[in-house]
Amino acid sequence: MSTPVILAIESSCDDTSAAVMAGGEILSNVVATQQVHEQYGGVVPELASRAHQQHLIPVVQEALRRAKVTKSDLDAVAFTQGPGLLGSLLVGSMFAKTFALALDKPLIAVNHMRAHILAHFIRAPRPQFPFLCLTVSGGHTQLVIVRSALDMEVIGQTIDDAAGEAFDKTAKLLGLPYPGGPHLDKQAKLGNPTRFPFPVGAMPGYDFSFSGLKTAVMYFLRQQTAQNPNFIQENLADLCASIQHTIILTLLRQFTRAAQDHGLTQLALAGGVAANSGLRAALTQLGEERGWEIFIPDFEFCTDNAGMVAMTAHFQFEAGAFADQLSSPDPRLKLT
Ligand code: KG4
Ligand code: ZN
Repeated sequence: MSTPVILAIESSCDDTSAAVMAGGEILSNVVATQQVHEQYGGVVPELASRAHQQHLIPVVQEALRRAKVTKSDLDAVAFTQGPGLLGSLLVGSMFAKTFALALDKPLIAVNHMRAHILAHFIRAPRPQFPFLCLTVSGGHTQLVIVRSALDMEVIGQTIDDAAGEAFDKTAKLLGLPYPGGPHLDKQAKLGNPTRFPFPVGAMPGYDFSFSGLKTAVMYFLRQQTAQNPNFIQENLADLCASIQHTIILTLLRQFTRAAQDHGLTQLALAGGVAANSGLRAALTQLGEERGWEIFIPDFEFCTDNAGMVAMTAHFQFEAGAFADQLSSPDPRLKLT
């Protein structure tokens, strides 16, 4: 088996995941999604921590089994240090630290946002450095110049809601189940994206803002349902398509400008919202028009997964960037 063999743990939010990578090749990537939050319309941190405790050991066992790897084959144990929910991060980091200590193996602490970006290196086609990455997830929206696996610069980010939150919160206003992003995406395919014009958040530089959209949708629905209580049901597909269209315009406007200004021609999309079919199609089209190369990871590696943590840990292992038993989770860990 090629080396290093790394076991990686991801537990930053509401997915418990473990992956095994050998010599940069992914051998397994197991994800247990927590259903418990659906009834609350959002992630409940305390319930997330408890669910991580229940899922983690079976998920690790399954990841090792699928990879046909035993504990003694491991060269390092990696975990997500942050950003994320403190309780959730604690479960994963305590497990990884204990496991590494018991096995007398090195420990690698991984930044979740860096991992979303380096997910592009798990499978071909892989971008070449430098490239521009738009990371869009339930908690973050960041525009990052990626100079190398360990050298990244955030040039823009959201000043309020993340792109995923914009999907989830507007979907909630429409009565769709949590998390609303995938449901809104599905409905949007059947609707007219220009039927309802919503405001595109305009920010200086390369920053993003989505709270204006959420408020605009809320007031619009309130006004319309006062006149016709069935307004949402009768116009669901057009509403979804129009909201999605607005989110995509907001994202791509800054993405395009940043690429132009920095002379970058390889554009990468990362994070759970990269699963959005409208965003993928719009970005692919943009690439064709401008002659830019577009990179979007497989769906499995877009949403939270330990495979991307393993990939990042692989780069850190090569660079000798190890953590020690004193390293602790940081819910607000910055990408530097
Ligand atoms: O990266 P991720 O799995 O978790 C975080 O780190 O936040 O992203 C989850 C987010 C959620 O907001 C979810 O609604 C959104 O990604 N998402 C989508 C789609 N699939 C997942 N949003 C829009 N369209 C989708 N198809
Ligand atoms: Zn994430």
